[in-house]
Amino acid sequence: MGSKKKLQKFAENLTFPNLFQPDYEEIKDGFELKGKWGIDFFGNTNPIVLELGCGKGEYTVGLAAKYPGKNFIGVDVKGARLWRGCKTSNEENMKNVAFIRAKIQHIDHFFGPGEIDEVWITFPDPQPKNSKRNKRLTSQVFLNRYARIVKPDAVFHLKTDNEPLFDYTLEVIEENGHRLITAVKDLYHQEGFEEVKSIKTHYEKLFSEQGYDINYLKFRLNNSVFDNG
Ligand SMILES: C[S@@+](CC[C@H](N)C(=O)[O-])C[C@H]1O[C@@H](n2cnc3c(N)ncnc32)[C@H](O)[C@@H]1O
Repeated sequence: MGSKKKLQKFAENLTFPNLFQPDYEEIKDGFELKGKWGIDFFGNTNPIVLELGCGKGEYTVGLAAKYPGKNFIGVDVKGARLWRGCKTSNEENMKNVAFIRAKIQHIDHFFGPGEIDEVWITFPDPQPKNSKRNKRLTSQVFLNRYARIVKPDAVFHLKTDNEPLFDYTLEVIEENGHRLITAVKDLYHQEGFEEVKSIKTHYEKLFSEQGYDINYLKFRLNNSVFDNG
């Protein structure tokens, strides 16, 4: 993307009422909506679903249209990608959608304990180097962060083209006693899973065109392994 287009998107991002892009100073002691997203932002106490590394936010916007009785928040560090989801949700006047531009490393500055009901992790960067394994969004290090903000029985969904990341996540689940619900390789050649199949993200389309199979994991955390005070 040309830098002029990017700058235009960054400028428009400043006008979206449902996009939050605070700097670290504003979140280090807890973001202003932490623990209060339901009443103070959405104006209800409906369940809150997160999409992590949401890019253009296809799941956030797609599921929000389907489930008006739930609230959806997409998180990504890249503003030009978030612009797409912000633009659509504002054009469609969707009141159950928000986006946060931030590092997922800081996710527990944005939400209080048990504030989140469900998490989608869609085509995360695989971080193939072993030395970077703790940067994978499904590493135990990240799951520990999520454990601070999700309800004990929150469901996690992972959709990925990357088989090593899929296998790695299965290992993390097994080693830590997390509760596996579903593990499906080559999703589109399996029966069922209509909801998971019904939304295709930007990266999913790219990887599918390149011939990669799409894989899907669904699990809950084993809360007894976390030491979150
Ligand atoms: C491969 S893209 C997938 C985007 C989108 N989910 C999709 O499927 O089209 C990975 C996304 O994760 C974001 N991301 C990676 N690590 C992140 C982090 N630590 N904090 C916030 N965003 C991150 C990137 O900016 C990028 O948009």
